[in-house]
Amino acid sequence: MAVAFAEVRVKKLVKLYGRTRALAGVSLTLPAGAVTVVEGPNGSGKSTLLHCLALLAKPTSGSIAFGTLDGRAHARQVRRHLGVLTHASMLYPDLTGRENLRFYAELHGVPTSRADELCARFEVGRFIDRAVRTYSRGQLQRVALARALVARPSLLLLDEPSTGLDTLGVQRLVEVVRAERDRGAVVVLVTHDDELSRQVADRRVLLRRGRLVFDGEGSVVAEGAAS
Ligand SMILES: Nc1ncnc2c1ncn2[C@@H]1O[C@H](COP(=O)(O)OP(=O)(O)OP(=O)(O)O)[C@@H](O)[C@H]1O
Ligand SMILES: [Mg+2]
Repeated sequence: MAVAFAEVRVKKLVKLYGRTRALAGVSLTLPAGAVTVVEGPNGSGKSTLLHCLALLAKPTSGSIAFGTLDGRAHARQVRRHLGVLTHASMLYPDLTGRENLRFYAELHGVPTSRADELCARFEVGRFIDRAVRTYSRGQLQRVALARALVARPSLLLLDEPSTGLDTLGVQRLVEVVRAERDRGAVVVLVTHDDELSRQVADRRVLLRRGRLVFDGEGSVVAEGAAS
């Protein structure tokens, strides 16, 4: 599927959880063909921002435009173009990893061979044909990552994707993130991993207490080219 969004535009996004202001008015444009890394201390709103972009959380106010589509009005159309990795793996525990990926491919009208292609790309071992509930943390993370990529998303959202991965796993992660970026996807990656950020970031943005930290010029602090 061709890339659907030229950019994703976040405008004055506010998300309240009771008295907690998780997002306090975030405006940000995420261009296609670039990796934006979101950094910030624990509780600064990174996962909340990602959940709003993934249409998994409803903003209290503000809007998100996915290309020409409004996230609220066109949620169904937008969802087809999202690839999401959150803290929850979103895999069926009683199916094998391969079955999960094939099932997800079918659901999105993608050939099931795409699932096998991703298994090869992540160099998964024999565990891929065991039930997901038996997986180690890193095995689960590899399959959850592959799942996020199955439908060739236009917007790829990754929350702490290196969690649990070994050196080779992180290397594969860096390669796939760059490949998705080069394919023209909008990529947003939340991480505390400086090395990963350095390797993939085209732009780094910093959240603090639900706000983006800007410099005097109005551009995002730590904005800069990746290697
Ligand atoms: N479902 C929820 N209900 C209530 N409060 C929430 C909920 N989700 C997040 N919060 C609160 O919103 C704030 C932002 O949380 P968020 O998970 O976005 O932070 P984060 O930057 O991802 O942190 P971390 O680095 O620890 O993952 C925190 O104060 C958190 O306690
Ligand atoms: Mg988080």
